[in-house]
Amino acid sequence: MALGACAVPARDSGGFCAADRPTRPQGAPSPTWHRDVAPIVEAFCVRCHREGGLAGDSFESYLRVFAARESVARSVRARTMPPYLAAPCCARYRHSWGLSDEQIATVLDWVDAGAPEGSPMDRGARIEPPTAGLSRRDVSLSVTEPYAPTPPRGSTDDVRCFVLDWPGTARTFVTGLEIESADRSLLHHVIVASVSGEDADRVARLDRDEAGAGFSCNDGAGSLRGVTMLGGGLIGGDFPEGIGIAVEPRSKIILNIHYSTVAARPGAVDRPSVHFRTDANARPAEPLALTNPAWLIGDAMRVRAGDRDATFFYRYRPRVSTRGRTMFLRSVTPHMHTFGSRLTVRVLRANGERACVLEIPRWRFGWEQVYWLEESIRLDPDDELYLECHFDNSADNQPVPGAAPRDFTFGGNSQDMCAAFLSMTEAAR
Ligand code: HEC
Repeated sequence: MALGACAVPARDSGGFCAADRPTRPQGAPSPTWHRDVAPIVEAFCVRCHREGGLAGDSFESYLRVFAARESVARSVRARTMPPYLAAPCCARYRHSWGLSDEQIATVLDWVDAGAPEGSPMDRGARIEPPTAGLSRRDVSLSVTEPYAPTPPRGSTDDVRCFVLDWPGTARTFVTGLEIESADRSLLHHVIVASVSGEDADRVARLDRDEAGAGFSCNDGAGSLRGVTMLGGGLIGGDFPEGIGIAVEPRSKIILNIHYSTVAARPGAVDRPSVHFRTDANARPAEPLALTNPAWLIGDAMRVRAGDRDATFFYRYRPRVSTRGRTMFLRSVTPHMHTFGSRLTVRVLRANGERACVLEIPRWRFGWEQVYWLEESIRLDPDDELYLECHFDNSADNQPVPGAAPRDFTFGGNSQDMCAAFLSMTEAAR
């Protein structure tokens, strides 16, 4: 046997499925504001794009959207607005608030046609905005001290981790959650996680050592060690089909909140709360963190200065995590930082088939969230999980605009990261 002749796993050739520019069915009439575009904007944009909302621009009238039409077309085409980053061609998710390919095409065709208003008499049917909602609030935890977001100099973003004590005295299942913020104009995005044992002590120390409520999570990575992802995103609600995630007694809850001061009122402060639905018994979801441990060591993962598309992939047969069982994937939370540009998670089956779990055609740091699959995805013991991340380290994509690109590694200074947090259950439904 030749020494060192171990098989090097190959990159999966499956590619990304999202069309660069989706098209509408042949013969569809040219879109107008009143008939076609206003219902889309009202359902998917004005939640944030209104006076006092999170985003600077208000899209509450034809004229406002008309004035912003070029940048609206650009961000809708890139699928960065609404900031729901998962491509619908890959898989369907619960309570999705992303646009369908047809809705994207409608907005693009409308802008191409000069963004006509059309007649207000010809009003398109209202689209029900996606909502979820938590059916019960069994445990509510609040940050007691008000926090005034203080972005580092030159930035409008501040990522803060708040640490809250979990009150349970026995193992409990979280079966849903919802975030409440004192000031919606600040809250960019939220991740909720639990941490127990030594990691809980570590997080409590970080909280104590820094003045004011919580501690700075601007570097992203350090605080993630040992955590179990519970949920996140701006729309809360019950987990599907009675699924629960176990939380141990004496755990800490981490509220990782990304504040944006772009549209903040002067002197705005937040005092966030998180509400949980809990049950003594639930269909347990087991966590699985998908990342290549070797990436974190030294400079195993180096992204060269100027590289516009540095690509890394990882194939993993999760036999240890699944203990030889067939499991069903339920949710996925992607994770990269500011250099990340695109990401995909797939199941590569032993028979050569593949199943798309998540595709983010255009990553935007700060819009991380949990995606719950509409239909679970089977993971047999011989299947592999596949993760592929792309990074843009060109001059156009530096966290500090105008800064010269520099080489970076994942392990050294955790400048960036490539991971997906999955949850899975033993039964398909
Ligand atoms: C969850 C809140 C939210 C929703 C929903 C949302 N936006 Fe935004 N949008 C923002 C925020 C916040 C910004 C400011 C930039 C940032 O923080 O990413 C923004 C910025 C923009 C910009 C400026 C350019 C850019 O990409 O930064 C455009 C254009 C835009 N949004 C269009 C839309 C359209 C069109 C929709 C609906 C189809 C939409 N947005 C839905 C929050 C939202």
